[in-house]
Amino acid sequence: MVIKTADFVKSSGKWQECPEPNIPEYAFIGRSNVGKSSLINAMMNKKDLAKTSQTPGKTQLINHFLVNDSWYLTDLPGYGYAKVSKVQRKDFEKLITNYILNRRNLVNIFVLIDARHNPQKIDLEFIQWCGESGIPFSIIFTKADKLKGNAVGKNVDAYKAELHRTWEDLPELYITSAEKKQGCDEILNFIGKTNDF
Ligand code: GTP
Ligand code: MG
Repeated sequence: MVIKTADFVKSSGKWQECPEPNIPEYAFIGRSNVGKSSLINAMMNKKDLAKTSQTPGKTQLINHFLVNDSWYLTDLPGYGYAKVSKVQRKDFEKLITNYILNRRNLVNIFVLIDARHNPQKIDLEFIQWCGESGIPFSIIFTKADKLKGNAVGKNVDAYKAELHRTWEDLPELYITSAEKKQGCDEILNFIGKTNDF
């Protein structure tokens, strides 16, 4: 898919405040600092469309971007950020789960996972919750440029093995780098395939 336009629409603190759910929507979700906002910018070919930061917890609201005037790409706050208070962490989690469960134009969510680490409990739990809740999702491994040799492949295989403990069929998996724009076309092609934009 060729990106002709990508524009910021709105930041919302609740799913009820999000733009009218009248066009298909795809959302990026994952731990704080995993690289959600950076990958959105890489895919949209715009440097500062979504705000990024070296400090986790940058994105605190639901941000909607309108792509090619025909679909929404949504940047969500990260889950599992240790440095905010327990109450605030719970609030973020509620914001994310309420959004996923109630946003009726959501076609697919992309769960982003840092390719540098072994399977992490919090990510496995979130994926488990998506599966159990019947949410269509795909998995995106991020920051692949930070690893050498086959280290990414090893971590991806470890995740696959963990997921196979529960699920026979696994979702689509993408290996990406916002830095090198790796994997962006594959994700955009997948989005294009799921809709007649
Ligand atoms: P929150 O909004 O806090 O949840 O974070 P986020 O998931 O949106 O992460 P963000 O895109 O802000 O990126 C976090 C940090 O990781 C920034 O310093 C980015 O420059 C860096 N980063 C993101 N993606 C990549 C990548 O593919 N490669 C490298 N080397 N760094 C990356
Ligand atoms: Mg962000």
